[in-house]
Amino acid sequence: MVRIAPYAEQHKDPQGPGDARPTASRIIEDQGLVASPSWTGRVVLVTGCSPGGLGPEVARAIHLTGADVFITVRDVAKGKQVAEEILADGKPGKVEVIKIDLSSLESIKAGAEEFLRKSGNKLNVLINNAGIMACPEGKTKDGFDLQLGTNHLGHFYLFHLVKDALLASASPSFNSRVVSVSSAGHRPGKINFDDLNFERTEFNTWAAYNQSKLANVLFANELDRRFQSQNLRAVTTHPGGIMTPLARHMPSTAHIVGDPAIAKTLMTPAQGAATAVWAAVAKELEGKGGIYLDEVAVAELSPPDVPFYGGGYAAHAFDPPTEKRLWEESLKLTGLSE
Ligand SMILES: NC(=O)c1ccc[n+]([C@@H]2O[C@H](COP(=O)([O-])OP(=O)(O)OC[C@H]3O[C@@H](n4cnc5c(N)ncnc54)[C@H](OP(=O)(O)O)[C@@H]3O)[C@@H](O)[C@H]2O)c1
Repeated sequence: MVRIAPYAEQHKDPQGPGDARPTASRIIEDQGLVASPSWTGRVVLVTGCSPGGLGPEVARAIHLTGADVFITVRDVAKGKQVAEEILADGKPGKVEVIKIDLSSLESIKAGAEEFLRKSGNKLNVLINNAGIMACPEGKTKDGFDLQLGTNHLGHFYLFHLVKDALLASASPSFNSRVVSVSSAGHRPGKINFDDLNFERTEFNTWAAYNQSKLANVLFANELDRRFQSQNLRAVTTHPGGIMTPLARHMPSTAHIVGDPAIAKTLMTPAQGAATAVWAAVAKELEGKGGIYLDEVAVAELSPPDVPFYGGGYAAHAFDPPTEKRLWEESLKLTGLSE
């Protein structure tokens, strides 16, 4: 099978932020989707859109299509600032700000209800982008490990609350899509089913992040398996390396920015948003799901000695029994019955 990798050439020899690798807006242009009649009126929901990260760049690019974009934030004032900046493109779609704290099921429920009311129960693409990384040990309002709870269980719960809108908006010619923004951190990740929330296991912040990011892949794979017959597909993305507020809990990033070999793999947030935007809109991905994307391409299995900043997915991220088990555990933890 020919690998789908439209920007392979631009990824061969990275030269650091702002190099030839595409930005998210470039994806929209290359797809011929700027102010597109088919996208006008579509609805896209993007989580985690406070300034400085990838979310605003994802939302900005999607808005170029003419779609209505709903952005979620914890701090509505920050969201309004992002919305105003996006609306300056003069494109017809709305940009609406929805308050959601993914570390609280109650907040997610309130945010999902507000979203469904404002969108008229319509949703074509859900982009689960929000995340936290390597934070100090903590629990969500519902007692979940902070990283698993925010990065995986919060998005899992949100998906279930907007699932009917995704299904109702799906059609054979444009399947609804869920984009699960994961990380290369899924590769060393392990799902500790015996103690998902570090109640008995010694806490390790990277183990918690990697577990949550592996969960993002397993979630998308199981979602895709369960709903593809109803024209709802899910894919996973890894954005690449981008210096954003995500790194705020790391004691130092000197080993990244100070190492020339790693520094040249880094990207701007606008470039880092490209793979998620491609996942959301690409015509060549129509009818596809249960796949892992990076470098604006369908990724390949990574070699065992791949460095943390290298591309590709781990074989254990594609394991139907584990995917099913995590789905069922996540239903139980969030109090859902499917
Ligand atoms: N940057 C990278 O190099 C990189 C690499 C691999 C994967 N990723 C993934 O890409 C995604 C975006 O990362 P980023 O670099 O854009 O990070 P970021 O700049 O820190 O943005 C993360 C977003 O998530 C939101 N968020 C955090 N905790 C939340 C909560 N409890 N409820 C709701 N929203 C919450 C943040 O909101 P607040 O401003 O309120 O905190 C922010 O809007 C993440 O899933 C991350 O794991 C990033």
